[in-house]
Amino acid sequence: MEKKKILITTAIDYTNDVIHVGQAYEKILADCTARYYRDVYGMSNVHFLTGTDEHGTTNEKAAAARNLSPKQHVDDISKRDREQIDLLNISYDRFIRTTDEDHIRIARDVFQRSYDKGDIYKGEYEGLYCEGCESYKTLTELTEDGKCPNHPTREIQKITEENYFFNWSKYSVFLKKMLNRDKFILPEGRKNEMISFIDNGIKDIPVTRPSYKLSWGIPSPIDPEQVLYVWFDALINYYTFGIQNNCWDEYTRIIHFVGKDIARWHSLLWPAMLESAGIRSPDIVYVHGFITLNGDKISKSRGNIIRPEDLVKQFGVDPVRYYFLKYGPITEDVDISLDSIKDVYNSELANGLGNLVSRIAKIAEKSNMLFPLSNDNNIYNLEWDKPMNDFRTDLVLSNIWSEISVIDKHINDNEPWKIKDTDLLHSVLSYEIEGVRKISRMLRSFMPDTAEKISIQFNQERITFREALFPRLQ
Ligand code: ME8
Ligand code: MG
Repeated sequence: MEKKKILITTAIDYTNDVIHVGQAYEKILADCTARYYRDVYGMSNVHFLTGTDEHGTTNEKAAAARNLSPKQHVDDISKRDREQIDLLNISYDRFIRTTDEDHIRIARDVFQRSYDKGDIYKGEYEGLYCEGCESYKTLTELTEDGKCPNHPTREIQKITEENYFFNWSKYSVFLKKMLNRDKFILPEGRKNEMISFIDNGIKDIPVTRPSYKLSWGIPSPIDPEQVLYVWFDALINYYTFGIQNNCWDEYTRIIHFVGKDIARWHSLLWPAMLESAGIRSPDIVYVHGFITLNGDKISKSRGNIIRPEDLVKQFGVDPVRYYFLKYGPITEDVDISLDSIKDVYNSELANGLGNLVSRIAKIAEKSNMLFPLSNDNNIYNLEWDKPMNDFRTDLVLSNIWSEISVIDKHINDNEPWKIKDTDLLHSVLSYEIEGVRKISRMLRSFMPDTAEKISIQFNQERITFREALFPRLQ
């Protein structure tokens, strides 16, 4: 069936703290994809969701540490997260919160459906739990000194409690089939880890927690003494939005962007939950890598948290978007530093794109000629955006920068400032101006403000010189 609509989601962030650039990377990646598809498929066919994951122990403890009620705390952090992502020009259609009334209702409903199917049963859990991941752990998943590799500063909890288990193992065959579907997990390299998780034997996990231990959760519909396990609750946010906006149907391509630490929840637990509740599964789980900062994990305890606003203040929103879309952890982990952002800013934006635009505008203004807009402004019949099929924003940007080089070379080869013949000058400049017009269209999803500025400057017959798009940084 041809899918004409698209739903793009990011992971929803825990509200234990305001988001940092690592979490923000994913929002930029998803935003670029959403903008791209809106351009190709039309605004109304694309839905884009982000938000905050507000229940569970990690949020409850963070609230207690601030002497706030959980609700006061999550209201505050969620608002500040939203401010951070607004600074990055993230064009979400809804900022969902798992404390939203409709989400609570729908999460309970999905739980009930799975229970009615016979997939949720009472049991006792005895084992390990990492509050940072909000997940059950086995010894083999911990470091030698018994810590979670993702949260080495937190103590692993030993828990023994009554709760309700989800019959996850029942869906092993279903999951394996799904995983082997072409492009269910991207990049391809991430698939094997998921397959081996199934091959090692999926074990059922608790999907509720007793409320005497954790009260900050959605009350389970089947037992007032239990709240939903935070991952069961959180994953349903996508479906909450989907059914509220008529985009959780067969006509929609559903694409989840997530980091590598939570790929398993999205590609293995989530489809099993949906199948159990009789709901369709997503189409694609795109798994990106991690950002480290000057060689270190970004974390509160290391005191090296950089927030989007810190970077936006220093470099501007579009350079930050550009940097992450080009050099972010799209397939592998990457290390970033302020110096490397500055280097890229100067060489690729100030000297590259910015310089090209000012050079051409200067000569065009001086020529005093008119450059009528071309009728042919379709950019989607060319090759530049092909890597977007696999969400490779880095490769698309390389292609756009090749276009920039082609025009730069055309200017250097033809030296328009020396041309006396007006017809020749007009044809040389027309080629270059048309090139910049196309580039500004190609850049729309990546650097929306910059694309808009260039298009205002160039999409008219008389082109005038303006201030530099990217002043050089010292
Ligand atoms: O996992 N570099 O929330 P979260 C790149 N609430 N990506 C990073 C990163 C880094 N340094 N640090 C985190 C959760 N991320 C759950 C999700 S979805 C139903 C529930 C990514 O706040 C991380 O991989 O810990 C995840 O995709 C997102 O940021 C939110 O992480
Ligand atoms: Mg995390």
